[in-house]
Amino acid sequence: MDTYLAIASKRDERAYADAPISAGARERILDAGRLSGSSKNRQRWEFVLVSGEAKDRLAEAVYAPENIRSAALVVAIVGEAGSFDTGRCAQNMMLAAWGEGVASCPNGVRDPEAAAQVCGGEVRAILSFGHPAKPRDPAGRSAEEWSERANRKPLSELVREVG
Ligand SMILES: Cc1cc2nc3c(=O)[nH]c(=O)nc-3n(C[C@H](O)[C@H](O)[C@H](O)COP(=O)(O)O)c2cc1C
Repeated sequence: MDTYLAIASKRDERAYADAPISAGARERILDAGRLSGSSKNRQRWEFVLVSGEAKDRLAEAVYAPENIRSAALVVAIVGEAGSFDTGRCAQNMMLAAWGEGVASCPNGVRDPEAAAQVCGGEVRAILSFGHPAKPRDPAGRSAEEWSERANRKPLSELVREVG
């Protein structure tokens, strides 16, 4: 998928289909995280794949438990990475996923201590991945159309010049 189309058409998904993510797609999602730049290239993160009973416990530690419960893949970014590095890493994974037709959503952590206990370290971000419950068709619109329809502030409110 074209990069701008992927960015423009990606929406965060709250409901996933009961369908697995292929091993190849999972590998590319994780590799997109691995490839992220970080401050001084420190890469102060681990990607913790949370499944089974641990996934149920992690669901109880976030604001939207059902998003975690229904996800085919849950990745916690764990470690000492700062928020800027974590954001780059998370968005890389989510966009790589979207290029594979896999939707995703960041999950706010309600109980950081419980999340740390489940994941074995300080949790910087929790990402859920899965095929969308309602099929999405990124190629059904142009990137410009997706951009136009997005619930986002217009550039005229966001961009200013100095100098
Ligand atoms: C740090 C962070 C935490 C978030 N936590 C939640 C959450 O707990 N539950 C949820 O439904 N969405 C969560 N989101 C998703 C945002 O609500 C979403 O990015 C925003 O509404 C835009 O959604 P859209 O891309 O579908 O338009 C989170 C996003 C970020 C960046």
